[in-house]
Amino acid sequence: MKIILVVGARPNFMKIAPIIREFKRINFKDFLLVHTEQHYDYEMSKVFFDELELPVPDYFLNTGSGTHAEQTAKVMVEFEKVCFAEKPDIVIVVGDVNSTLACSIVSKKLDIKLAHVEAGLRSNDMTMPEEVNRILTDAVSDFLFVSEESGLKNLKNEGKKDEQIFFVGNVMIDNLYYYINKMNTTKNESDTASLKEKYGVVTLHRPSNIDIKSTYQGIIEALIEISRDMPLVFPIHPRSRKNMESFGLLELVNSSNIKLQPPLSYIEFLELWKDANIVFTDSGGIQEETTALGVPCFTLRKNTERPITVDEGTNTLVGNTKETIIDAYSHFIMGKSKQGRIPELWDGKSAKRIVDVLLKQSLA
Ligand code: UD1
Repeated sequence: MKIILVVGARPNFMKIAPIIREFKRINFKDFLLVHTEQHYDYEMSKVFFDELELPVPDYFLNTGSGTHAEQTAKVMVEFEKVCFAEKPDIVIVVGDVNSTLACSIVSKKLDIKLAHVEAGLRSNDMTMPEEVNRILTDAVSDFLFVSEESGLKNLKNEGKKDEQIFFVGNVMIDNLYYYINKMNTTKNESDTASLKEKYGVVTLHRPSNIDIKSTYQGIIEALIEISRDMPLVFPIHPRSRKNMESFGLLELVNSSNIKLQPPLSYIEFLELWKDANIVFTDSGGIQEETTALGVPCFTLRKNTERPITVDEGTNTLVGNTKETIIDAYSHFIMGKSKQGRIPELWDGKSAKRIVDVLLKQSLA
């Protein structure tokens, strides 16, 4: 059986890494890695390959940026060539980026079995490009690997058959535990000594937060006010930096207690946020990772496709207006933050469950 794994953008790399680690552990060699290059900068892509021990991709599709249609179309054209040449039995896609959808459509039309890791998540907000990608990818997937209970419910409501749905837990958390364990075994005295100052971490890149000047400005004003009480570190996505500059917000930030940094590598970022007192984000994955390590997370959105992080974890949805963000922070400093617990099957063994299902299938 030949399997193709697809990566395209930053949040894909840490989800594919544990699956490849599992392939290596059981000595399964008949797989290929395809990088669509939706993300192409060193900080957005290459550094993750180095750190996450990912093999050099067998194919680079050189697709890059563009409008949604351009990006999706370019990936489809190039990925179809790979499928013609390699004739895989199964394609594995992860997450909800444009590359995920593009490769899903191609696979299905060539009658290749498609496995979607992180299936069933729904924000019910069709203005998010990722929501469109999730729904359409699940619509054509043969294997739906689900990370939290809401995903099971959503897929059943959408008429998926029980035999297609596998509740396996969260591969991103597999990766997190792998690196936390590694860090703990290499930790030395000076590491712990340097971590005493209180600070918060910020990440922002959703179009709904950074594409409209008044919204972005409100968020920045709230964060500047918060940074007077607790310094903030903000590793900034290239698009968010571009908009910050063009909206004239960069000077405000530079003269505040918010420290801008270029995008960080996986390990640099983990070292930063794991000891933070609070994280402000609009990322999907960070909502989950903070829940797994018990770090308070304020999500600057009105909805989440990962409701378990709110129901059971440390995540709070605070919206994206200046008032709601400052209000939530005031509650937090009064000691009203959530404790949270680790969701079911977020135990570091999700990749093993996925690979077990796929290899069993090949024997059937
Ligand atoms: C994409 C994903 C989003 C994910 C995010 C993580 C989609 C629809 N969105 O959003 O779900 O959370 O990645 O980062 O797939 N750019 C660079 N260097 C790069 C990549 C991008 O400078 O290596 C700039 C380009 O100007 C590009 C823009 O960022 O046009 C946006 O990149 P794109 O991949 O379209 O979407 P993201 O906003 O990164």
